[in-house]
Amino acid sequence: MDTPRKLNTVSGMSSSEVEPSPARTDIVTIRTQRIDERAEARDVITRSFGRVVVADLAEALQDAPAGVDGLSFVAELGGYLIGHVQLSKSWLDAPKRLVEVLVLSPLGVVPEFQRRGIGGRLVNHALRQAARMGAPMIFLEGSPHYYQRFGFETASRRGFTAPSVRIPDAAFQVVVLPSHEPWMTGALVYAEVFWALDCVGLRDPNA
Ligand SMILES: CC(C)(COP(=O)(O)OP(=O)(O)OC[C@H]1O[C@@H](n2cnc3c(N)ncnc32)[C@H](O)[C@@H]1OP(=O)(O)O)[C@@H](O)C(=O)NCCC(=O)NCCS
Repeated sequence: MDTPRKLNTVSGMSSSEVEPSPARTDIVTIRTQRIDERAEARDVITRSFGRVVVADLAEALQDAPAGVDGLSFVAELGGYLIGHVQLSKSWLDAPKRLVEVLVLSPLGVVPEFQRRGIGGRLVNHALRQAARMGAPMIFLEGSPHYYQRFGFETASRRGFTAPSVRIPDAAFQVVVLPSHEPWMTGALVYAEVFWALDCVGLRDPNA
């Protein structure tokens, strides 16, 4: 009889195993997601957000040219995944030409391990990898309270235009990396996957 495959997420752990402690979160590893960890990463994202569509987005990005291997990062503790962050390629429509840029979305840490610095370590790791790749900037939609500590700022104040009027101005953020040049201004053009899954901005159900 086949041995059941261990599911490497905290949802596969007993409650005593998921009890967080400072000592345990110290030994969290942040690294590139492996190809065989798609299901585990999907579970982490679904549990972090409580919504399947965000996991669908990450998976679709990983399947698309926008999210070629090496742009997904995970937080691992004792063989279990507890956090995930996705970078993907989109474009900046600059006056001179289209510029390849990165988008950070989604970012999630499973509820049992939130507020222990793991989200911060995932973001900082993604920033370092993006700079290493020579990406000029990273855009995201998110809370300014959370992301400004990593160097993100309101993108419109830097002269960038959001890809949709449904993105609140304060939520549309950018961090400019060392490869950025002054002529790189204009509108963010999201990769097709964001539109196909309707994951851009906020919808008004009463409109
Ligand atoms: C957002 C998230 C990834 C942060 O990860 P984390 O490991 O809990 O965060 P850290 O421990 O690095 O940082 C904790 C700080 O983040 C803040 N924070 C956490 N979630 C936040 C949110 N949704 N909005 C604003 N601030 C948030 C906390 O208030 C805390 O701030 P403080 O240091 O000023 O007290 C995690 O809470 C999560 O997965 N949330 C659900 C999914 C989600 O909303 N993802 C972000 C989409 S933009």
